[in-house]
Amino acid sequence: MELIKGKRVNYSESLGALVEYKEAKQSIDLKTTNAFVRVIVYEAGVTRLWISRWEDSFEDDFSYAVTGKPHETEYQLFDLDDKLVIQTALVQLHIQKSPVRFEFYTKDQQLINADDPAFGTSWIGNEVCTYKKLLPGERFIGMGEKTGNLDRRGRAYTHWNTDYFEYPVDGDPLYCSTPFYMGVHSGLSYGIFMDNSHKSVFNFGASNDRFASFSAADGDMNYYFIHYNTVAEIIQAYARLTGTISVPPLWSLGYQQCRYSYYPDKEVLNVARTFRDKNIPADVIYLDIHYMDAYKIFTWHPEHFSEPARMLKELRDMGFHVVVIVDPGIKKEEGYQQFDEGVARDLFLKYPDGENYTATVWPGDCFFPDFTKPETRDWWGASFAGYVKDGLDGFWNDMNEPASWGQTTPDLVQFDYEGRGATHKEGRNVYGMQMARSTYEGTRQLMNGKRPFVLTRAGFSGVQRYSAVWTGDNVASDEHMLVGIRMVNSLGMAGVPYAGYDVGGFVGESSIALYTRWVSIGAFAPFFRGHTMINSRDSEPWSYGEEAEEISRNYINMRYKLMPYIYSVFHEAAQTGMPVARSLAIDYTHDRNIYNTLYQNQYLFGPAILVAPVVSHQQISKVYLPEGEWFDMYRDRPYAGKQEHMVDTPMDRLPLFVKGGSIIPMQTLVQNTQQAPEDVLMLHVYKGSQGGSFVYYEDDGETYEYENGACMTRTFTYNEADSTFTIAQKEGLYTSRFKRFKIYFHGFEGKVASVVLNGKAIQVEKEDVAYFKQITAFDPLYHQEGVLRQISDVPFVEFAAEAGELTLSW
Ligand code: GLC
Repeated sequence: MELIKGKRVNYSESLGALVEYKEAKQSIDLKTTNAFVRVIVYEAGVTRLWISRWEDSFEDDFSYAVTGKPHETEYQLFDLDDKLVIQTALVQLHIQKSPVRFEFYTKDQQLINADDPAFGTSWIGNEVCTYKKLLPGERFIGMGEKTGNLDRRGRAYTHWNTDYFEYPVDGDPLYCSTPFYMGVHSGLSYGIFMDNSHKSVFNFGASNDRFASFSAADGDMNYYFIHYNTVAEIIQAYARLTGTISVPPLWSLGYQQCRYSYYPDKEVLNVARTFRDKNIPADVIYLDIHYMDAYKIFTWHPEHFSEPARMLKELRDMGFHVVVIVDPGIKKEEGYQQFDEGVARDLFLKYPDGENYTATVWPGDCFFPDFTKPETRDWWGASFAGYVKDGLDGFWNDMNEPASWGQTTPDLVQFDYEGRGATHKEGRNVYGMQMARSTYEGTRQLMNGKRPFVLTRAGFSGVQRYSAVWTGDNVASDEHMLVGIRMVNSLGMAGVPYAGYDVGGFVGESSIALYTRWVSIGAFAPFFRGHTMINSRDSEPWSYGEEAEEISRNYINMRYKLMPYIYSVFHEAAQTGMPVARSLAIDYTHDRNIYNTLYQNQYLFGPAILVAPVVSHQQISKVYLPEGEWFDMYRDRPYAGKQEHMVDTPMDRLPLFVKGGSIIPMQTLVQNTQQAPEDVLMLHVYKGSQGGSFVYYEDDGETYEYENGACMTRTFTYNEADSTFTIAQKEGLYTSRFKRFKIYFHGFEGKVASVVLNGKAIQVEKEDVAYFKQITAFDPLYHQEGVLRQISDVPFVEFAAEAGELTLSW
């Protein structure tokens, strides 16, 4: 590799002028005075700009993040005097010739995004940076696991996977890097994904009033520009590039209880039994580092867990799955199988002279598997055989930034990088993702067709293909609770829908009110896990007294009743990349109120339920409901959209609203996902002037047979205009566990007078609906009225599950 110029350049230097260009299929190669550019059309709304100072870069198009390939796309190329124009059905890319700069327009000439005219793409030494004009009123959203506001304007962020214990609420960088953001202005939106795993910096007008920029410490400027009409479509286009989750095991969507650490086995069993005794639903218990022998991965502590298979069987019989922590550091100890094998087979990260790289973590001095080497991944994956045989099916990948005491991996450490070779500078950000991949692929192979659950702390774009992500070592405070919600929403906008935070806070101690609020909100997080630090107060739902326990049970119960809805939403995420927790910036992008710091934490859980997180102590709160009709979930009271509202928010009442026109499938309460609910699928329909529909999904919840067609979807459609509710034929081979439908009509003011199913009148009955139990003993404000958590006289019809059309009259 040779620099184009042999002489040192002290200032930033940009692309220079166009020298020549050449067109191939959907790709145009440009040569400029200082660099080479390849423009590739991926689809009508996605164009890739690959800018390099080395011509031979284009010979090897490798990415850990991107699995998507260009789709056959129609486009035209025009060579005008001063510019080239590439036009697809949606976007015009103007490439100015001298100097070479890029501008994106809609087809009707509205400016979407433009290079800073002077800087464009420039280098400072090996660092490459693209500068974009800051446009009037432009906001920036996304970027994954990043602290700060929903609108990121005015801040800069670094992507450099970092173990940040007890990070402050504005801490950066954290554990997981997804260099993808979206810009929003003048009714338009676009996305930019920079696929470069070196340390990168995204500046959204921080300390300057001129540009938004993104830079990488080394390597090529390689970014995808995405423009569609909506943020949802942009997120889905990003998912076509970097992949989606696979449908998670159903059990992993239940409540998960963690602690650093439950041991010995008796204690683990005791916690599990307490959940059952107290009728608090739960599916998972975690084993943190103390389950191992001297923190050696793939071992069990000989005394504390002397008969792991037996313990796991006992837990399984109680309906519990167990997730164990695995850290990458392999203890340097001869005789320890993974150490001996790794050394013998040359599987660890090393220095340029061939010596294995050593750093200290929990077990003491360790070597680190090189997960960018295929042989290492195969070996690591196969090492789970013993765990899987013992009965484990969940694997928690921690410390994989990689973390070590001292927190400074030397940059000269070498990574295999699929045989290409890379230093720590390029390898670090993908290390955690490749560990998660290796864990996922290995355990999936070992589990005889069952789905493993994999969780990771570190990751990079594309990590969603292998693992869920949690936001690391947060702190028990209101601010942390809220920033965690924003980070999960933001991960959702960066292709990672399966994400969560440590409910209750990892570091420090929650108050009763904070713990309770956190559980209520966590019940509406995609990944729902309580966790807490060693030597901290207990943090199970019963540890904060009776009132907290009652309220926690109430919300955890709701999570389980909502499981048909949640599972269907996860299926949608697996299909399209749509997040599960949806920042209001997705559907209400151009409503400025949703960016107000008062309301920026609000999100839709799936398409129907608006969650308005409020801090622990606040008894009355302001919420903002965006456009549409809304119903509060406790009483069905209608609320107008595009308006602020004051709502009561005592400890046991998280503001939850259902969007008018929604259909929410629910089931009867179970104590874990292995337990079968009654065979009635309850469909809660909410009146709305636009109507609505929902695609219900079901499969066996535990195998990959859905990939072979053993799954089903059924679309329910509520059409307000002609007063019908349609149940489409089911699609797919799977036979639903639900034999009956029970359809509840909310907000129809008790006036659903008659319902005709496929031409035959069926009986309309009425029932009181209570999603949440009334906690009378603890709720002086509400128990006086006694019915405030209950919706009286909701009309419903019940019938054998079949396709058909209901005609309603009122
Ligand atoms: C790290 C993890 C935390 C875990 C602890 C001990 O701090 O982030 O969740 O409990 O290590 O393994």
